[in-house]
Amino acid sequence: MASEWGFSTEQVHGGVEPDEGHGARITPVYLSNGFLFDDFDQARERFAGDDPGYIYTRYGNPTISGVERKIAQLERGAEAIAVASGQAALTIAFLALLQQGDHVVSARSIYEGTRGLLREDFPRYGITADFVADPNDPAQLEAAIRPNTKAVFIESIPNPLNDVPDIAGVAEVAHAHGIPVIIDNTLGTPYHVRPIEHGADIVVHSASKFLSGHGSAIGGVIVSSESRFVADAPAEASAPAGLLGQPRGFAAKARSLAGRFGPTLSPLNAFLLQQGIETLSLRMERQSANALAIAQWLEARPEVESVDYAGLARSPHRALAERYLAGGAGAVFAFTLRGGEPAAKDLINAVKLWSRMTHLGDVRSLILHLQSTTHTHLSAAELEANGVGPGMIRLSVGVEDVADLIADLEQALEA
Ligand SMILES: Cc1ncc(COP(=O)(O)O)c(C=O)c1O
Repeated sequence: MASEWGFSTEQVHGGVEPDEGHGARITPVYLSNGFLFDDFDQARERFAGDDPGYIYTRYGNPTISGVERKIAQLERGAEAIAVASGQAALTIAFLALLQQGDHVVSARSIYEGTRGLLREDFPRYGITADFVADPNDPAQLEAAIRPNTKAVFIESIPNPLNDVPDIAGVAEVAHAHGIPVIIDNTLGTPYHVRPIEHGADIVVHSASKFLSGHGSAIGGVIVSSESRFVADAPAEASAPAGLLGQPRGFAAKARSLAGRFGPTLSPLNAFLLQQGIETLSLRMERQSANALAIAQWLEARPEVESVDYAGLARSPHRALAERYLAGGAGAVFAFTLRGGEPAAKDLINAVKLWSRMTHLGDVRSLILHLQSTTHTHLSAAELEANGVGPGMIRLSVGVEDVADLIADLEQALEA
């Protein structure tokens, strides 16, 4: 789905349909679980798919549909399905592709919540996963693919290491085996990268992060392309056909699973997501520029051992960041203090402006020590393999004045 508009125009006007009832300029919040049928026959026609009207919010809602159209357009996807959280988006996307006995190939450095889902939860249902150290190495990817591998999953900007994947290279290897590629584009956002344009088949988001930006609503999105690798996933008969249109492979399956498993995005949260997306480019531009300035400042500090930001000249991931990430390398990265955990603890306790929080992509700047929080359940060997040391601190850089953010880190480093 190409567009003649630039990104900033599209994020405001994309997907918006005129409000025939009252002429509302903003798609309103439709807080209604169900939608009236004019008569007996209309109810039958909606369920049969012969009348395109809404039935029940778990299967579709005008506020949710509006934000789905906007995200599908921004990601250059065929269809988007909004759900209650990023975790729900991941779960539904995987389960729409996989069944008992199937296998996923992923990367070691992905978000711990997704790794946990694949490593600890899905095996109970007969779905297993392997995690390669470097998905950009075709030999490693090839070696991990088995006859029962049905999905390759990576992230557009992994955190904390910012080890940017070669999306086109990964897709080439996966597609040679007939396997679709799912990309979590939470940190990249369509402002920096549209994975579908580089060969990805499915994109997922935690919409709780940069897409919203305000940090006041949890949400998730699954975006399907029209690629032939997802075109013939079997459709489910469980959802009313009217809300599916003609069943279209993966997207129809994912929508019907979302309806049946039930992680419905609240229309109120869909509205908040819609409000957030309208300023995505402005925030990403500012947050990425702030992140680069902070990464460069940290790099020059004697207390800092290393900075893992793909936008830095000396980053081993800089070339891929330049190839795939337009307008900056994102706003989430980690740095490591020479003084290990005691130094990290002192710094985190001393910040006044940065928020001590496990969240990302907010307009506020956030700071977190990983070993003692999100990565606490990893073994020493896994921490080492993942490059998460005792002095590592993750930053999600916000839109504040960068001088204030640096001044706060400076006083905290000196504390
Ligand atoms: C990259 C990534 N994907 C998915 C998720 C899960 O999203 P949510 O918290 O909206 O369920 C997160 C959450 O931190 C994340 O960072």
